[in-house]
Amino acid sequence: MATKSELTQQLGVVAGFDSPRVDLEQYRTPPELAAHLVHTADLQDDVEDRAVLDLGCGTGILALAAALRGAQRVVGVDLDAGPLGTAVENERRVASASPVSWVRGDATRLPVSPAESTTVVMNPPFGAQSSNEHADRAFLETAAAVADVSYSIHNADSQSFVESFAADNGGDVSHAFRAQFDLPATFDHHTEDTRSIDVEVFRIDWT
Ligand SMILES: C[S@@+](CC[C@H](N)C(=O)[O-])C[C@H]1O[C@@H](n2cnc3c(N)ncnc32)[C@H](O)[C@@H]1O
Repeated sequence: MATKSELTQQLGVVAGFDSPRVDLEQYRTPPELAAHLVHTADLQDDVEDRAVLDLGCGTGILALAAALRGAQRVVGVDLDAGPLGTAVENERRVASASPVSWVRGDATRLPVSPAESTTVVMNPPFGAQSSNEHADRAFLETAAAVADVSYSIHNADSQSFVESFAADNGGDVSHAFRAQFDLPATFDHHTEDTRSIDVEVFRIDWT
């Protein structure tokens, strides 16, 4: 198995959004965090030889991290065709052995039928800056419906929301960790070029 830092390096070639849409909260998860999330999932036997579904895949960094870690097959779903085109180019760049299908569609009304045992990975829109608070709820609903296990990135202070959502929907938060990364200012109404934000990552067992 490649180490976490080798995976981070491999993901360094994954391009982000050409023309990011603020309404869809389009920013790329940094390679370090994508590698950390998928490495953690792999240590739990949730990636290798499994079906992995990336909800709101954007330019594909989480899906590609899973493909690099030997997922049996990977599907990435996003509303926006532009980033999916970049995801195809990114797939060629990382040259993973596992096949990835890129599907345009609404992750909250899934356009594909996932495999029986599926791991969901996702960095959904938080809805933090709009009236769309907890936009991540609809993504969690999809995970609850189709996944055995999910890994999701949320904004800081989401723990009680995620834990009660999981408990109400037959899930159990088994692991959690915090991370920090730079977000382009456009996504957070700030005037600096970037702003460091705190996020929380949760593993939810839905079985
Ligand atoms: C924060 S970005 C994360 C992108 C990518 N997963 C990553 O980690 O770099 C959120 C993504 O969700 C997508 N998205 C937002 N709402 C969606 C929906 N209802 N269905 C599918 N994709 C959606 C956006 O287009 C965007 O690519």
